[in-house]
Amino acid sequence: MVAVIGLGYVGLTLAAALIDAGVAIVGYDTCEPRTASIRAGSMPFYEPGLHETVTRGLDEGSLQIMETLPARLPEIVVLCVGTPASGAGHGPDLEPLKLALTSIAPRLADGALVIVRSTVPVGTTRGLALPALSGRTSSPALAYCPERTIQGSALTELRMLPQIVGGYDRRSAELAATLFARLTDQVVHVSSLEAAEMVKLVCNAHTDVLYGFGNEVALLAEGLGLDAWEIIDAANCHYPRPDLHFPGYVGGSCLTKDPYFLLSSLNPPGSAPSEWSLVATARRLNERVPYHIAHRTLECLEKLDLRPDQSTVMLCGIAYKGVPQTDDVRGCAAVPIAERLRRSVQEVLAHDFIVEPEVMNSLGFTSVSLEEGIARAQACVFVNNHPGYQRKEVTDMLRSVGRPFAVVDVWNLLDEKGFADLYGFIYSCFGHG
Ligand SMILES: NC(=O)c1ccc[n+]([C@@H]2O[C@H](COP(=O)([O-])OP(=O)(O)OC[C@H]3O[C@@H](n4cnc5c(N)ncnc54)[C@H](O)[C@@H]3O)[C@@H](O)[C@H]2O)c1
Repeated sequence: MVAVIGLGYVGLTLAAALIDAGVAIVGYDTCEPRTASIRAGSMPFYEPGLHETVTRGLDEGSLQIMETLPARLPEIVVLCVGTPASGAGHGPDLEPLKLALTSIAPRLADGALVIVRSTVPVGTTRGLALPALSGRTSSPALAYCPERTIQGSALTELRMLPQIVGGYDRRSAELAATLFARLTDQVVHVSSLEAAEMVKLVCNAHTDVLYGFGNEVALLAEGLGLDAWEIIDAANCHYPRPDLHFPGYVGGSCLTKDPYFLLSSLNPPGSAPSEWSLVATARRLNERVPYHIAHRTLECLEKLDLRPDQSTVMLCGIAYKGVPQTDDVRGCAAVPIAERLRRSVQEVLAHDFIVEPEVMNSLGFTSVSLEEGIARAQACVFVNNHPGYQRKEVTDMLRSVGRPFAVVDVWNLLDEKGFADLYGFIYSCFGHG
């Protein structure tokens, strides 16, 4: 039996994958509404396949969701609590991890294995977890095994992806590897807790840097009156070397904070990163993209002779990404875009195929259907890459507006040619000069 502590995206999907692999799970989370909803069979977030496995686990008894931590925890405890970024320096808030360690330590069986799965700056498992566990059990086993799935395909990826294992000692590593071998036949051992922590952080920092390059190409192409998408497509065509990344917003709770966690591993949070840091530069550039999109939207309104303060803008795609689809709005581009737009325009509407209207309303948006939004707005920004926006009906709806209207397309989803014959219609794509 395994205890999973923290039943968010990471904990609950891991629990489901382990149940599928025949491992019994005890789940615990400090958020009572969350545990009550899971126990009632209602998942706190959208993830394909999750509902089926969790409800089967609850029905068959292979999953127990506890209201309180049991007096004696199972032999293996996996910590999946949140480690959000906090403050202007985007440093890690390790308080949830500290609290989880404090609450599990007195309940551990002798020789129990604790696996830290939350994303943390390099050195955290040894610096925080080890002292919290030492002296509590006669021979604590401790490992860091990062989560690297993509939201929207987590259950599939948990069965496919290699699992990184860094142990405090050989016994810890072997115990952790035995657990993850239930999920995958690819367990990758690294030499230390710190190496495993760094693997996770460099994976996400690398993705951020790749997007950063794509976004820089987009900004350069715009300045030069060229089309970044054409250039990137041509550069990649049958050419084996640079696999250039297309432009786009980098969102989500991980990609927006993990580069900071990597940097803060060396420099205290809030301190300036080294001036030659590629990771820091890419992050800053990627954070600029939403404001750039907001400015392009305002420019379009001006070109159409529409007064921004009398205009309504609809943002389409509020989740932080559209592929694979998710209802997660953490780190989404729509929030900073709207923040900037609200200083100039009358109203910001929102549409999403997956995110619940209440969630969009709680972010300060007025949630609308696509039809209603297009009828009320003067501009429509396609913020994420949900393929639903590429349907012909959407282009048809936009084509039939019949008054000055702007479309701002962040992900090159729509075909510019589809609007070329319309008078008083502006189509503007991020990366097109
Ligand atoms: N979301 C992802 O796709 C993803 C991928 C890789 C790594 N991570 C990392 O995994 C960790 C969890 O991420 P998440 O997206 O699941 O976060 P989340 O916010 O969705 O879930 C975290 C859960 O931990 C619970 N919690 C907080 N303190 C607790 C405590 N002391 N005891 C028990 N439960 C507690 C919270 O109530 C919450 O339900 C983070 O460190 C994150 O950076 C996330």
